Amino acid sequence: MKIAVVGTGYVGLVTGTCFAETGNHVTCIDIDEKKVEKLNNKQITIYEPGLEALFERNIRQGRLEFTTSLEEGIKGAQIIFLALPTPPGEDGSADLQYVLRVAEDLGPMLEDYTVIVDKSTVPVGTAEKVTAKVKAGAKVDFEVVSNPEFLREGVAVDDFMKPDRVVIGAESEKSIKLMEKLYAPFVRQGNPIIFMDVRSAELTKYAANSFLATKITFMNEIANLCELLGADVDKVRKGIGTDTRIGNRFLFAGIGYGGSCFPKDVQALARSSNEVDYDFRILNSVMEVNENQKQRLVDPLKNYFGGDLKGKTIAVWGLAFKPYTDDIREAPALENIKTLLSLGAKVNAYDPEAMENVKGVFGDDIHFADDQYDALKDADALMIMTEWPIFRTPEFDKINSALKNKVIFDGRNLYDLQQMEELGFEYHSIGRRI
Ligand code: UGA
Repeated sequence: MKIAVVGTGYVGLVTGTCFAETGNHVTCIDIDEKKVEKLNNKQITIYEPGLEALFERNIRQGRLEFTTSLEEGIKGAQIIFLALPTPPGEDGSADLQYVLRVAEDLGPMLEDYTVIVDKSTVPVGTAEKVTAKVKAGAKVDFEVVSNPEFLREGVAVDDFMKPDRVVIGAESEKSIKLMEKLYAPFVRQGNPIIFMDVRSAELTKYAANSFLATKITFMNEIANLCELLGADVDKVRKGIGTDTRIGNRFLFAGIGYGGSCFPKDVQALARSSNEVDYDFRILNSVMEVNENQKQRLVDPLKNYFGGDLKGKTIAVWGLAFKPYTDDIREAPALENIKTLLSLGAKVNAYDPEAMENVKGVFGDDIHFADDQYDALKDADALMIMTEWPIFRTPEFDKINSALKNKVIFDGRNLYDLQQMEELGFEYHSIGRRI
């Protein structure tokens, strides 16, 4: 099949590459000339484990191309994916200007029946708006379909190639058949393609992300309660996660969720609810609890130093919002660093992938270390913000000899409590006994 993908951000590039991998001819379109030039030179523009090999192979074999021209890029495409940004506007609702502008441009360019697919996370009703924009200029028949994306950064290739399910909101037999054909190679293990009406598909994406954000937040509140009641959240997690109705994933307490999706989508769903006069109260609590949770370790850190962090140097391990990504959007580490700096502390930071991005935020205000142990030099305490595997089994001797005080504030619950006690560390984590 010939496919076009408009927008070569995270979702667009993964989508385009993976569809090429299953034998389709894919043209990715982006208005950013520098980006397209890079991609045409086989330089990948995002960090995503496993993607580069697929990306290179499909370019080499002539199935994956990049252009800045919408008109050229969509020529002959049976399916056009819109993978454009939908950033939160000032009021928290998703800003659709990029999606709608492309829809408007597309209309007069269509030469034959085309399925236009909303891949971006867009509020309920967007497909209807896109339809109206395309229709204004279209001379041929077309259909707008919703196909929300559920891939996670860091494991995006696997999530795309072997999805738990594919959700498609489509109305006509013709578009359903085309989408079924396109996705057949991805559902060979019996994982379902779930067809539904367009509005339900649009809402499914927000419901999934908001539910997961709520699940994490619920565990964070259980963790906070554990600290007050003398219980241990790891044990409670195992105790409830074995109930198949609850499930054992996404139950890890920590310093809150971040990233480009959960915060934005929870906010947008709350906002959409308000627009139809519905007060989605759980979501408001989720947002509030998560904001507080991100800086949960700041108070214990302050208390350890008698309430004053002036002149103290804090080593920070982990800057990305989660491991295996260089993405720092809404990363808890950033807010913590801002607070530490405002309290007069110095920061020595290390992250295996995200340091370049953080340099753009803090510049020379913080020190970037060469490796995780270098970050400990002259530091008064260690804070852990991201659960990169290299932080999980460190050489505790090295930590001990480099740190001025034997104290660790761990926002990701990486270490065994008993081991830390035996090693003589004062160890603060989330929802476990101190
Ligand atoms: C999330 C969803 O998981 C994807 O299904 C969805 O497609 C994507 O958003 C999106 O809308 O594009 P992602 O943001 O890449 O994916 O990251 P996750 O792995 O879901 O993690 C989100 C946040 O939750 C991270 O900050 C992570 O540290 C936190 N988290 C996750 C916890 O605090 N505890 C957990 O048990 C799991």
